[in-house]
Amino acid sequence: MKLCQTIFIALAAISLTTGCREEHKYRIGVSQCSADDWRMTMNDEIEREMFFHPEAELEIRSADDSSAKQIEDIHYFKNAGFDIIIAAPNEKEALTPVIREVYESGTPVVLFDRAVNGDCYTAAIGVDNVKLGSDVAEYASGLLGDHYNVLEIYGLAGSTPADERHDGFMSAIASTPGVRVLASAHADWNQPDAERVTDSLLNIYKDVQLIYAHNDRMAIGASRVAQRLGRRGDIKIIGIDAAPNIGVKAVADGTIDATFLYPTEGQLLVRTALSILKGEATPHKIDLPMSKAVDKSNAELLLLQSEALREETGRLRMLKTQVDDYWSRHMTQSIVLYAVFGALLLISGLLFIVLRIFWQRRRHQAQLAERNALLAAERDKQKELNEQLNLAIQSKLAFFTNVSHDLRTPLTLIAEPVEQLAAADYLEPKHRTLMRLANKNVKILRRLINQILDFRKYENGKLDLNLTEVNFGELLLDWADAFQTEARRRHIKLVTEVGDAVEETLAVDVEKMERVVFNLLSNAFKYTPDNGRIRFSYSCDGRNVRIVVVDSGIGIAKTDIVNIFDRFYQVEKVRPKGSGIGLSLVKAFVELHGGSITATSEPDRGTTFEILLPVRHVAPDSGVAFDTPKPGDEIEEVTRIDGEVRDFDESKPIVLAIDDNADILSMIAALLDDEYNVVTATDGREGLRLATKFVPDLVICDVMMPVMDGYEFCRQLKGEISTSHIPVLMLTACSMDEQQVTAFDCGADGYLSKPFGTELLKSRIRSLIENRRRVRNLYRAQTDTPAQADIAKSVNQGREQADGVRRAMTNNLDNEFYDRFLKVVEEEIANADLNVDDIASRLGLGRTQCYRKLKALTNYSPTELLRNIRIQKAREYL
Ligand code: FRU
Repeated sequence: MKLCQTIFIALAAISLTTGCREEHKYRIGVSQCSADDWRMTMNDEIEREMFFHPEAELEIRSADDSSAKQIEDIHYFKNAGFDIIIAAPNEKEALTPVIREVYESGTPVVLFDRAVNGDCYTAAIGVDNVKLGSDVAEYASGLLGDHYNVLEIYGLAGSTPADERHDGFMSAIASTPGVRVLASAHADWNQPDAERVTDSLLNIYKDVQLIYAHNDRMAIGASRVAQRLGRRGDIKIIGIDAAPNIGVKAVADGTIDATFLYPTEGQLLVRTALSILKGEATPHKIDLPMSKAVDKSNAELLLLQSEALREETGRLRMLKTQVDDYWSRHMTQSIVLYAVFGALLLISGLLFIVLRIFWQRRRHQAQLAERNALLAAERDKQKELNEQLNLAIQSKLAFFTNVSHDLRTPLTLIAEPVEQLAAADYLEPKHRTLMRLANKNVKILRRLINQILDFRKYENGKLDLNLTEVNFGELLLDWADAFQTEARRRHIKLVTEVGDAVEETLAVDVEKMERVVFNLLSNAFKYTPDNGRIRFSYSCDGRNVRIVVVDSGIGIAKTDIVNIFDRFYQVEKVRPKGSGIGLSLVKAFVELHGGSITATSEPDRGTTFEILLPVRHVAPDSGVAFDTPKPGDEIEEVTRIDGEVRDFDESKPIVLAIDDNADILSMIAALLDDEYNVVTATDGREGLRLATKFVPDLVICDVMMPVMDGYEFCRQLKGEISTSHIPVLMLTACSMDEQQVTAFDCGADGYLSKPFGTELLKSRIRSLIENRRRVRNLYRAQTDTPAQADIAKSVNQGREQADGVRRAMTNNLDNEFYDRFLKVVEEEIANADLNVDDIASRLGLGRTQCYRKLKALTNYSPTELLRNIRIQKAREYL
């Protein structure tokens, strides 16, 4: 790109350099009234002068004796933007307006030879025609004496030279009465008219000694007529102009007797115009010098001179043509040179670009080849890894299948006794809860194992379809009904819509469809919050049945929804996580029926699963009785644990258990019920609320929970003054070191991995509470009266020691709180009315919180502490 720009700049510079040679030229327009010999002589002079002025260019136009045409010519010069107009106006009156218009528009006007009315011109060049007329009269008197008759052949009436030449002549002869002008006839400056009028006049006037013609052409015409009439010998003929080829020649050959030079001075016209254009001082009127008469005595010489001048002009013209020719060749060569130079530059630029593109492509291709090789290697590696992964998955699955097979038999042996025991009516409520919990989880385990085995069968293409003709609608209602208890417990509105389709019978694999429905409804319940809504509908259009499960749960992200039927796919950020095979089995079962399943979802609005099954029928087999499983068994409520127990047994410590699994909470409650008051919460935020409310003696807390996880809970609990002292025991399935470190970083006091033994749990709880008791003693040591203090020998000594140990063993927030308490009491020691409410409000806590906090730290109530401190103070004063 840069190169292209450089080339363009170079070419532009070249064209600019060449362009600069085209300087502005002055444009001169010459408007001649006629195109006769006199004017041609003048035009020659003008053009010759132009050779010496390359700074100017010229255009000459002739009006051919027409005033109208001349007006047009002058307008043309003006409109074409000529810088100056030189004009010889054909007729004074007719040309005055256009000359004035041009002059007043600002274009300079030079008049020559003829004039217009007024002073509307920049400069006027010409001869004094009046003087010329009188010179002719004077010359004629020299020839003819004081007595002779004259015929006057007049120029164009209205053109100034004609009128002036007449006036000059008449005024000159006015003083010589012997000279008479017999007649004046207009011949409009041309020869034919002159011949015509002379013929008439000579026929009328016989006594004529002089014919005075206003120019040579008319004089020659008159001479011809006089010759023809045989009167040439009696009559002298004088003309004006003395143009070499006509007038001077006519004198030389005797056609006329004399002529007077009317100078053309074309060169002067050009020079005057240029000096006006260049702003040089130019006279307003330039009178050309007069010359003597041209007669036989000097005509030959003048002709020779004129011939020499003509040759010189020819040579000059030739030279000029040569110069022009050289110049144009030079210009052409320069242009060619620049063009070649430009083309070369362009070609080298293009060559460079092409080469660059070529190199870049080569480099690019090399890079591509390298990348392709890398990709191929990566692909191979990936393929190998995939194969290894598949192998690993297959062997894992095989292992799971084997283990599941192995587990199934003992599980069946456990399941039966557990089920019987759970149903026994001699059990104490607490034991019944535990047994039912065990029973429920045995069923879950059995379902999971079956799921793994089915999945394996599906993977191996060995999943059978056992079709039975059933009333499918009724079955669906039964299955959905089993979820009603759970729905009621969690205030979820479970709407079942079956309508007329309930009557239809069709062939399905009952066991598999039950698992499908169970799975979808379980998922709906799992992800729908309390007070939500689940719609379960069934319809049949004769060809297909349609089962729809719509929940108002958390929904599934777009990125996840496309994968949810893939095996082992687990939706991120969703708790609790499943095995990742449930939905892929659902899909497999549906497809085994020749149906299809789709899922649509809107995050935070809910998810819809839709199943379409083709209606098929098999012969009703009365002999095949199927045992409809009870899906509800697995979600059966074991014992509802109330989050908030209001009637505490004051003699027992309070334990707050937080876990999102209701069964775990039930079990913990059942296990600890004898020794502790158990309060439960299903997530960290709820736990925090209950901890602040009850200030428990210990918290058992799961790590992975919705809304607020265990780490955050612990951090907030330990950061809150009213709860910072409460020991926290983390209880989780995650037993990795890193997670334990995070738990301790968040302030947890202990850690217990799931699954845990009852005794271990109880012992950890006991030891944490005991630790707390020891710390409490350290706080007590500072406020005990001497009788109570066996930890220190004297008050001061005991205080200092206890203080040091306490600081080492307890957390900063608790120390700070306790120090603030002591400060408040010391400040108010003289206040006999100081009570717990005052202290609590000074410490920024509620009365109960303050009470439980101090009790937890010191095992004394605030009142007891206050009393002890007062007694101690009294001792000190004594
Ligand atoms: C040429 C001419 C001359 C004459 C002059 C007067 O056109 O007729 O012969 O002297 O004009 O303007």
